[in-house]
This record gives sequence, C-alpha cells and structure tokens, in this order.
Amino acid sequence: MKHEKQKTREGFSSSIGVIAAVLGSAVGLGNIWKFPYVTGANGGAAFILIYLLCLALVGLPVMLSEHLIGRNTKANAVGAFKVLQPRKPWFLVGGAGVLSAFLIMAFYTSVAGWIYAYIFKAASGSLLSTNPQETSLVFKTLVSGVGEPLFWQVVVLLVTGTIIMAGVTKGIERVTKVLMPLLFVLLIVIDIRSLTLPGAAEGLSFLFKPDFSKITVSVVLAALGLAFFKLSVGMGAMITYGSYVGENENLPKMALKVALSDTLVSLMAGIAIFPAVFAFGFEPDAGPPLLFITIPTVFSSMPFGGVFMVLFFVLTAIAATGAMLSLLEVPVAYLTEQHHWSRRNATLLTILGIGLLGSTATLSNSILANITLFGKNFFDFYDFTTSNVLLPLGGIFIALFVGWQWGQSNVYQEISNNGQIANKGLARIFLILVRYVVPVGIILVLLAGLNINIIGFLLKLLGIV
Ligand code: TRP
Repeated sequence: MKHEKQKTREGFSSSIGVIAAVLGSAVGLGNIWKFPYVTGANGGAAFILIYLLCLALVGLPVMLSEHLIGRNTKANAVGAFKVLQPRKPWFLVGGAGVLSAFLIMAFYTSVAGWIYAYIFKAASGSLLSTNPQETSLVFKTLVSGVGEPLFWQVVVLLVTGTIIMAGVTKGIERVTKVLMPLLFVLLIVIDIRSLTLPGAAEGLSFLFKPDFSKITVSVVLAALGLAFFKLSVGMGAMITYGSYVGENENLPKMALKVALSDTLVSLMAGIAIFPAVFAFGFEPDAGPPLLFITIPTVFSSMPFGGVFMVLFFVLTAIAATGAMLSLLEVPVAYLTEQHHWSRRNATLLTILGIGLLGSTATLSNSILANITLFGKNFFDFYDFTTSNVLLPLGGIFIALFVGWQWGQSNVYQEISNNGQIANKGLARIFLILVRYVVPVGIILVLLAGLNINIIGFLLKLLGIV
C-alpha cells in the first residue's frame, strides 16, 4: 500500500541527483576527520576490519530500512512512523532522531568551523610547516580560543541554514553533485604524495596489517558507532532523504553503491594521513586533532603544497556542509510537516538551538574545559553518546520496525518497487539481517560496552564454563 499523503511533494529530480545527495550526506567530516582519528585511536587495521563487518551487517541494512520507510511514507522521521503505525508509539524513534540531530550538529558544526578557519590559515601560509610542534601549536591556538572558533561555528550555521532554506532539490542537489568528484581527485593527489614520503610503509602497515590483539570491547563499540555515523543512519536522516526518492529507484543497489563509495573515500583519507603520521613522528592516537595537525605537513612537503592545501580545506568544508544539510533537514522537515511551520522559521529556530548547544562543544577546549559529564567534556560527550549510544539504539528500533512490525509483504513490495525488480532472494537476506542480526548484534555490543558480558553470563548459567 502506498501513502499518497503529499502528491506535490518536492523530490530529487534525477537518479544521479538522488545518489549524489545520499552520498553527499554520507561523505563528510566522518571520512576525512573521524575515520582517521578513530582508526588511529583504536589500533589501525584490525579496527578497520571490524568496521567493515559492522558496515555490511548492520549499517547497510539499517540504511536500506530507512530508505524503504521514507520512500513508502513520503514523510519526515516522525511522520513516517505515524503514517505506518498511527496508534503505536513508534514515532518516538523519529523523535529521538530529531534530538540526536541536535546533539550531532552541536559538535559537527564546531569541527566544520575549524575546517572553515583552516581555509584561511592555509591561504595565509601559517600552516606551511613540516614540524609537528608548529602545526600542533596552530591547532591548539585555534581551539583554545573563544571568539575565533565561535565565529566560525556561526558562519557554518548560517551557510548551512541558507542552503536548507532554499529547499531540497535546488539546494542539496546542486551543491553536492558537482564538487564530490573534485574532492575525490584531490584525495588521489594527496595519497600519492603521502605514499612517497620516506617512512610511508609503516603507515600502510598500520592501516592494512591487522594486529588482532588490539581488539577489545571498546574497539568493537567504536567500529559499530562509526558505521552508523558514516552512513548517516540511526536517526531518520535517511528516512527524510528516502522520502524524496523516486518510485523507480533501485533502493538496495543505491545503498550498496553509496556504502562502497563512502568507504573508498574514508580509506583514501586514511592513506593520506597515516603514512605522514609515521613519516613525521606524530602519534596515531592523537584523537580529534589528528587531521588538523598531520595534513598540513603532507602538503608542506609537496610542490605547490600551499595551493593544494587551500583547495583541500575548501573541498572538505563543502563535503562537511553537504553532510550537515541532511542533519539539519531532519528537524526542519519535522517542524514544517508535523507542526506546519514555515521552512524559514523552522530553519532559523533549529540553527539557533544548535548554536546554543554547539557553543558548549566549541568552548569545551577553553572556558568550559573543566566541566565534565560522565568524565567527558561537552564535545566528547556529544560525540560519544550520539555515535556509540543513540544511533545504535535508533538502529535497533528501525530494524525491529521493518523486520517485525511493518509486515513482510509490505517490505517485499517496497524493496522490489511493487514487483518490478526481481530481488526476492536479496529481500529474504535483508529480512534475516533486520530481524535478528542487527538487533541482537547491537544489543550485545552495547551491553558489552557497559561491561555486561551476556554470552559469558549465559554460558555460566548453563554451567558450561
Ligand atoms: N555521515 C556524515 C559524515 O560522515 C555525518 C552525518 C550526516 C550523519 N548526516 C548524518 C551522521 C545523520 C549521523 C546521522 O560526516
């Protein structure tokens, strides 16, 4: 059954436009900033293997679930559940997603602000140095300031808000379609430079030679969290984007294409960064500053490095902005559709809220540094709880909804475009994943993250060990 709630709803105008927008949501700071720093902090290659497993078994099925729900209902994250289950509280899943969007944007706009600031620092030449101490100092000075990082965060919010106000097809599609390929080409250039640095081999083996002794529960939790964050899933952003997708789009194929391209971009960012980490004597586990202190040294050691460096930060800023559009779109679509706000007011209220919350993330490196929640400063708290708690929890419910609540025949209809695509086998595998593998897998990892070893407990209960 189709829900023709809004016949005149704006949508993406072409198949390429759809993929560009969904990929534009996936590719962002997650690839260039988060993937390298989380990989570095969790020991390298073994972490990457687990990450790939989480992507395939959990991230991809949740992405497809969101696209199916979104396209079927043509509604926002909250409205979609209300359309499908008007009398049950599933819409709370969408509500939690709207909340997660705020928390993610709080730190995301802060990091995006650092990127914007780096465009100008790169242009002024102050980042041209192959001395780790110097590049670290530039970064520390920026983030421990008050006015400068806040200023850039506001700029980020205004830029993103303006594009969102312009509307879906016009704004999102146009910006992301053209510039993603350019970022890709530039990454190839940096990879070549990084790989030819003396000592690059050590960085490559860090990335690709797994040391399984490094795997702990927190490494697995980090890999799972990154899979959600990377694919923009677990909070309804892909429900919202799915609602703009046309009836003839092959959704499983699209999800697979997006996940593969996104992973390629992450790995290329890793290849840009880790050889340099070892060549210049940085620590791979530097955490969130990693990108900002290593990348300038790579550029500084190549011809025309200053020019390439500016270009790199411009393109990264664009990728980050494209990803943010999908985050901002979640509360905006919710407010306009569920509460009939104008798009303009919905956007303004949302960026105001994010600005207030986000300033606590930005200032957690300066005046709010001493305030901690569960042992983490504001920035780390938002970063950790969204990726490692809220998105996986959202993923469980989205998977359970599609697997057990929506109805098998509805799922088959939507996944095959009403029988137009012969993909019954694939649909069966998908249903097994969302019914069992995704919820059970996430619950085990989350419980283990809370130090509850359920398998050990069960084995003991049964008297096996
Ligand atoms: N995937 C984006 C990145 O890697 C971030 C992002 C955009 C996101 N929209 C999202 C993360 C929705 C979680 C949910 O940078």
